[in-house]
Amino acid sequence: MAIHPKSRLAKPRSSIFILTASIACIAVLYLVSCLVSVPASIQNVVPPNRHTLQDKYLYWGSRIDCPGKHCDSCEGLGHQESSLRCALEEALFLGRTFVMPSRLCINPIHNKKGILHQSGNMVSEEGWAANSCAMDSLYDLDFMSNTVPVILDNSKTWHHVLTTSMKLGSRGIAHVEGISRTDLQNQKIYSNLLLINRTASPLSWFMECKDRNNRSSIMLPYSFLPSMAAKKLRDAAEKIKAHLGDYDAIHVRRGDKIKTRKDRFGVDRSLHPHLDRDTRAEFILCRISKWVPRGRTLFIASNERTPGFFSPLSARYKLAYSSNYSSLLDPIIENNYQLFMVERFIMMGAKTFIRTFKEDDTDLSLTDDPKKNTKIWQIPVYSWEGGEGGNC
Ligand SMILES: *[C@@H]1O[C@H](CO)[C@@H](O)[C@H](O)[C@H]1NC(C)=O
Ligand SMILES: *[C@@H]1O[C@H](CO)[C@@H](O)[C@H](O)[C@H]1NC(C)=O
Ligand SMILES: *[C@@H]1O[C@H](CO)[C@@H](O)[C@H](O)[C@H]1NC(C)=O
Repeated sequence: MAIHPKSRLAKPRSSIFILTASIACIAVLYLVSCLVSVPASIQNVVPPNRHTLQDKYLYWGSRIDCPGKHCDSCEGLGHQESSLRCALEEALFLGRTFVMPSRLCINPIHNKKGILHQSGNMVSEEGWAANSCAMDSLYDLDFMSNTVPVILDNSKTWHHVLTTSMKLGSRGIAHVEGISRTDLQNQKIYSNLLLINRTASPLSWFMECKDRNNRSSIMLPYSFLPSMAAKKLRDAAEKIKAHLGDYDAIHVRRGDKIKTRKDRFGVDRSLHPHLDRDTRAEFILCRISKWVPRGRTLFIASNERTPGFFSPLSARYKLAYSSNYSSLLDPIIENNYQLFMVERFIMMGAKTFIRTFKEDDTDLSLTDDPKKNTKIWQIPVYSWEGGEGGNC
């Protein structure tokens, strides 16, 4: 408490009274805070956010898709999002709060090729800390919690859940592997526990969602995580969208997807034999002309880094890239995952959006090659084949 040096000596009693009262107050507060912090009674403890220990928790580990074969070189953002979505669906299904890894692995190949940040420090520094980014720099966890409650595994709440579950022992935590989510929901030994610690598939977390191809069992749409982008990323995307006005968009995936390898006869082969061709400007121009009228603003998101690669498209369209907005993006974008989150948000707002690969029957796509092909290596095709391209 502050005793004003100028306070008149004529009133020493009131100063002493205030002092005594303050000490009493502090003592009472201290007592109350001691009582509140006794962890024995769960109900008395309310962590500083909306999550309380009356909630039940689901933990899948501290790294998406790890431990496993991808621990050192993790997959791209889309792949990890499929895994995260699978985990979030389970939390939703079980009515539990999901404990999110506080960091997300960034594959160096998805960072080296950055247009905005080619600085070497991300690549030269080895290890998890260097090749990962904070989960909450990508996603808005409060926004996400409106649909699936989540906490981070570096939060006070998680620390609290862990200590409490240890105190409760087998009544507090179960370590499970390979047990179906319906069993976790229906069997009493699991349903009442504070914490379920699932060891998810070491290959990829999304392997836990075995019927992920069954549309009626999907609880969170593919668009869920993209639309949960961190607020500063959404705000930047909104500004760019406002600037673009009425626009269409294409996502051109080249990079790793167009790589070829030689067969035993020394002939180049590819898993996506038409992709290199179909993602070149002249072929894009022909393919999209039936969907995107001349004169439209076309936003291009791509991992192609050759300068001017898409310039031929400017014969018909007003082209825009995220690089047009580097003065807006540079201060907030730290890695390519964040950049892609912004680009994805912009693409979602396009009037007509054309993907590289068709993912859905209603999708427009640049190529007819299937996205998922891990086995059949074919000879790449670089020119029109019989009848194709006749309309251009
Ligand atoms: C979860 O289970 C795995 C495997 O049993 C174990 O290694 C890990 O320490 C557990 N994590 C927690 C937070 O209990
Ligand atoms: C698809 O999922 C629904 C809902 O979970 C389930 O009732 C149905 O049996 C599943 N169908 C197949 C073919 O697995
Ligand atoms: C984006 O930048 C390119 C040059 O890099 C320019 O031709 C184009 O007009 C710009 N687009 C917009 C929408 O400002």
